[in-house]
Amino acid sequence: MNADSEQSRSLWSEVRLPKFPQLQQSSRTDVLVIGGGIAGLSTAYELVQSGRKVMVVDRGPIGGGMTARTSAHLSYEIDDTYAELIAKHGERNARLYFDSQKAAVDRIEEICSAERMKCDFARIDLFVFAPDKKGRNELEDEIAAAAKVGFAGVEWAKAPLKGSNRGCLRFPEQARFHPLRYLAGLARAIKRDGGTLYANTPIVEIKETASGPVAKTESGKTIRAKAIVAATNSPIAHRLAVHTKQAPYRTYIVTLEAGTADVPDALIWDTDDPYHYVRSYQDGEEKLLLVGGEDHKSGESDDFSPRLARLEEWARRHFPGLGKVRHRWSGQIFEPADYLPFIGRSPGHKQVYIVSGDSGEGLTTGVAASLILPDLIAGRKNPWAAVYRPNRKIVQPSPLGTYVKDLADATRHLVAHALQAETTPDKIGRNEGAIVTMGGKKIAAFRDGRGKLHTRSAACTHVGCVVKWNSFERCWDCPCHGSQFGPLGDVLQAPAMAPLRDGK
Ligand SMILES: Cc1cc2nc3c(=O)[nH]c(=O)nc-3n(C[C@H](O)[C@H](O)[C@H](O)COP(=O)(O)OP(=O)(O)OC[C@H]3O[C@@H](n4cnc5c(N)ncnc54)[C@H](O)[C@@H]3O)c2cc1C
Ligand code: FES
Repeated sequence: MNADSEQSRSLWSEVRLPKFPQLQQSSRTDVLVIGGGIAGLSTAYELVQSGRKVMVVDRGPIGGGMTARTSAHLSYEIDDTYAELIAKHGERNARLYFDSQKAAVDRIEEICSAERMKCDFARIDLFVFAPDKKGRNELEDEIAAAAKVGFAGVEWAKAPLKGSNRGCLRFPEQARFHPLRYLAGLARAIKRDGGTLYANTPIVEIKETASGPVAKTESGKTIRAKAIVAATNSPIAHRLAVHTKQAPYRTYIVTLEAGTADVPDALIWDTDDPYHYVRSYQDGEEKLLLVGGEDHKSGESDDFSPRLARLEEWARRHFPGLGKVRHRWSGQIFEPADYLPFIGRSPGHKQVYIVSGDSGEGLTTGVAASLILPDLIAGRKNPWAAVYRPNRKIVQPSPLGTYVKDLADATRHLVAHALQAETTPDKIGRNEGAIVTMGGKKIAAFRDGRGKLHTRSAACTHVGCVVKWNSFERCWDCPCHGSQFGPLGDVLQAPAMAPLRDGK
């Protein structure tokens, strides 16, 4: 199981990837890739192309993770802004980051063309508009920063939506695609070129031995490899080294029929806080507008209804004439404390690599990983690797208050949260969950559709924070490092690898 088992369905998940078998025997390979999302499949694709023997395994269906819940903007402009990146990491690193993100979008275009994928890829403009004076100042800083990192053609433009604003920048040559059609194309190509893919094969342990890394599956099989890439969205290869440098956020998307609204084929973001982002999707005659945002720290809020309503209201205000709501879904992103993702050697390992810290731009950073990790695995230098080093120290947290608060929040969930029960079992309705105290212990209690109460320990099996019920996705979210569990305690999202323990 993975995030595919959460309650909401995205627009993309109407497309299903081919079904892949479960791994039935212990195996050997050159490179084991754990995770069949964009980061894992892109890396596997590049490795197979370079002649490596590659095996991909996923705990659930291939393509069932966060890549199926994205909004699929492919942009090398970044929401944290190059102005901020330069301030935190200097012009040279910001330029290297820009180069890698641009190369990622270019690589997606190349692969779409080489593999003749029908995945709705198109180059389109990104517009970023400022609803207020503060945003205007940010845009002025950003146009100057864009020139410094080498972003060509950024200019002031008219925002393609209704409502007053204090200025708008156009970033040319960005893109959009259908993420699951793209993953299906990658999976086909990997298989065609000799790679193997396995679904429903959770990895529960990674060890390094004298003869290389070894992964163990839930059913006790071992996979020996020369290198392992854990592209699991949140790292499973180590306990805390990277988890304390990023924080999980839940984010929401609504799609509406375009109706009579003037919906451009463009990416549109605002500079507001909380921010909003928009793109369109056309399938035959049907055109939809996707609007996303309303993020909150994972597990810290369960008020999805007003959040989705605010997204809808915002979209209708800026695009008068929109029709019915068609989809409502959510997903999780990880905000790194210094804006930069974590791609490279897993801290404490020699031949185990990770990809994490997507910051809501994990499609491009996932593909950037595929342009970096094959070099590291082969012992070659890579021009961008130093920028993404997972073992870097967070010397310039951004903003400082948030980072310190994120760490403090994690500690609070670990200890203080355990002091008070939220409700009693008799108050839990059908298909609802809540934290209760039973026999002096914190229990994650879920009442199924037939009225039966299921009880699991509320301690997350990663490092023990108390999980929270998410009534929108009908799952347990861990507020500390982003693990998610199904109503009965099965793991849906890393870093946890074991289900919630028996509640008795
Ligand atoms: C609502 C939303 C909107 C977004 N919008 C954008 C956007 O417009 N542009 C953009 O660039 N990014 C966006 N993102 C971020 C981006 O979609 C994600 O960062 C990216 O898809 C993550 O890809 P991934 O391969 O790292 O992870 P995933 O797609 O989650 O894949 C990881 C896989 O690892 C598997 N796995 C985990 N643990 C194990 C284990 N122990 N054993 C075996 N398998 C395991 C999981 O089952 C999963 O399939 C958005 C995200 C969300 C939620
Ligand atoms: S994800 Fe780390 S304690 Fe739950």
